[in-house]
Amino acid sequence: MAEWIEVAKTSDFQLTDRKLVDLGGHQQIGLFKVGSDFYAVSAWCSHQKTTIITGDIEACEIECPLHGARFDLKTGRHLCLPAVKPIASYPVKVEGDVIYLKADR
Ligand code: FES
Repeated sequence: MAEWIEVAKTSDFQLTDRKLVDLGGHQQIGLFKVGSDFYAVSAWCSHQKTTIITGDIEACEIECPLHGARFDLKTGRHLCLPAVKPIASYPVKVEGDVIYLKADR
């Protein structure tokens, strides 16, 4: 059952635009700030088992650093080859200074 989980503070993003959230198991999630909005997607590329957490971000798209597949940070949708599958995306909400994402525990 998915539930809202406190994962960060907005102040954590004063010097960075991303944070790795490790919920254990297969749930390593990248939390990204684009403009004033926050997005959460799987930290793992759907092409091969490598992390996208360090990928370049442009126009709310993140590029996998290994082979260059791009994913929409809003939806997890794959936007180009070599990825042929999306990555998981997670709802995010901000209340005051606290950032929550909705995921299974
Ligand atoms: S591992 Fe990400 S595009 Fe290949």
